[in-house]
Amino acid sequence: MQLLDGKALSAIVKAEIKVQVEQIKAAGGKTPHLAAVLVGDNGASETYVASKIKNCEEIGFKSTLVRMPDTTSEAELLREIEKLNQDPDVDGFIVQLPLPAHISENRIMEAVAPEKDVDGFHPINVGRMCKGLPTYISATPFGILEMLERYKIQTAGKHCVVVGRSQIVGLPMSVLMQRNTYPGNCTVTICHSRTQNLKEMCQSADILIAALGRPEFITADYVKEGAVVIDVGITRVADLTKKSGFAIKGDVKFDEVAPKSSFITPVPGGVGLMTICGLLTNTLLASKKAIYG
Ligand code: GUN
Repeated sequence: MQLLDGKALSAIVKAEIKVQVEQIKAAGGKTPHLAAVLVGDNGASETYVASKIKNCEEIGFKSTLVRMPDTTSEAELLREIEKLNQDPDVDGFIVQLPLPAHISENRIMEAVAPEKDVDGFHPINVGRMCKGLPTYISATPFGILEMLERYKIQTAGKHCVVVGRSQIVGLPMSVLMQRNTYPGNCTVTICHSRTQNLKEMCQSADILIAALGRPEFITADYVKEGAVVIDVGITRVADLTKKSGFAIKGDVKFDEVAPKSSFITPVPGGVGLMTICGLLTNTLLASKKAIYG
């Protein structure tokens, strides 16, 4: 069993981006600028956005955090998005999800200018991904592809089972793993809450991507000997032994699955840390106008 070490790998990727930023600045270019909009006070979202901002500072990006109260109307948020769309200094921006229930996430995603949509959530960018055109690959799928590639994991001809069909992870991951490229060329099965023979499906996976958001759901009996196991879960569960009062649990029961797998991501320290690399890479692409010119 080999650990897919998100901590070590994300440090390498960030160092590579930092070098590029230094080169841009040395050549008199514009400092890449990421803005993040945070609506309300969801604890997990606060943590994620704070981490995004901190990582921007570390690698030399400019960053802006736009905070809005949870009473913000959809129209007010749309006006803020339009401001960011028009701001020539902002290369890319994200609106942290989930949003309060009275705001349509789809309407918000469609309002972000595709060339600034460094989350890759706009239908145009999702469509471009499906067609294999240059686009912003969403952060979590980007992080997973980067791990597979940097650990030189064979994917061609393998059976990849994706558990979970979310717009953010499961759906794009299933598309990306079947593409005629590396990583890719898998035979992909996407499973969800209505899948009847979920355990059998998972047992036939050479590469199992667990993105269902149910802590420790994937136990050893779901996993084939020698499988590659990617755990996307990051659920907060109460743990009074921790200072924060919670522990982060993955979707995979690590202790019993790890001995059966050839490669496995830990939680924390796996996919989560890699996702930020996707966002930073996309912001760099946006600042270079590499996708939309
Ligand atoms: N919430 C959970 N993951 C993400 C993400 O990748 N981007 C945004 N904007 N919100 C999220």
